Amino acid sequence: MARIVAGIGSSHVPAIGAALDNGKTEEPYWKRVFSGFEKSQAWMRETKPDVAIIVYNDHASAFSVEMIPTFALGCAAEFPPADEGWGPRPVPVVQGYPALASHIAQSVILDEFDLTICNKMEVDHGMTVPMNLLFGKVDKNSHWPCPVIPLAVNVVMYPPPTGHRCYMLGRAIRKAVESYPEDLKVVIFGTGGLSHQISGPRAGLINSKWDKSFLDNLSKNPQKLAKIPHIDYMREAGAEGIEMVMWLIMRGALDDKVDEVYRFYTVPASNTAVGHIILANRSRAGARKSAAKSKRPAKVKRAAAQAKVDGLRG
Ligand code: DHB
Ligand code: FE
Repeated sequence: MARIVAGIGSSHVPAIGAALDNGKTEEPYWKRVFSGFEKSQAWMRETKPDVAIIVYNDHASAFSVEMIPTFALGCAAEFPPADEGWGPRPVPVVQGYPALASHIAQSVILDEFDLTICNKMEVDHGMTVPMNLLFGKVDKNSHWPCPVIPLAVNVVMYPPPTGHRCYMLGRAIRKAVESYPEDLKVVIFGTGGLSHQISGPRAGLINSKWDKSFLDNLSKNPQKLAKIPHIDYMREAGAEGIEMVMWLIMRGALDDKVDEVYRFYTVPASNTAVGHIILANRSRAGARKSAAKSKRPAKVKRAAAQAKVDGLRG
């Protein structure tokens, strides 16, 4: 069966993408940010997921203000990059995993979470910046290391979903993944945040105390976070701090008790507090054992997964 082995939280500040794309990673301002992800990239290379579910928000790139789904699952075979402002980043097209995505859609919708199914969708910095932070720089003409299932969440127009709804959706996603028969190692990303406010009289707001307490509770007491109302995010973490509810989808998809593998926090990148965490499921050891027992090595399984995607695209 498929298994979620770990959850990753990461900010998605667009200027991080611009720094990478324009060769500024060695400048002291940016080195401070990028160096915080070096261990995570090594962890990711070692973990070698077969597929990543990435919970992110679109910034009026795929969905204009004319139509904003609350939860939109990418079921397509590929997702081209797009972006506000400077346009698409020079990153590869993101390969999807339609078979697992459709399975998740079916399971989660029949569990009464009304997802929008997207069979064609572009993805912006909300998704590609965390991918670069965890997978490193990837040439536009090359490939991301694994297929991705994007889950876009509305955090740009009131009302976004509640933290509790997000947490419960994470649980439903986990159930969906675990009922997928193929032996796949899955990671789930929660992206956005941490505290920031881009406009208005409080522009530039950052609240490190709130952010650090959020990371502590994410690790040890996520149920407490699931009770936080929108108004508290707005007041404490700024208008755009509401992006943090997306981390609760990731957390809901993990065990109640997890191992905190890594954490990083730095202020600021552009207008935002950069937060990053890796939380591993303890049942991961079991996953390793069953993978070890499996006759097909991980490399072969990944190749088979990719062949399946290629076949579906075909
Ligand atoms: C910034 C942060 C964001 O999350 C975003 O979507 C746009 C801009 C910033 O810090 O500039
Ligand atoms: Fe954002």
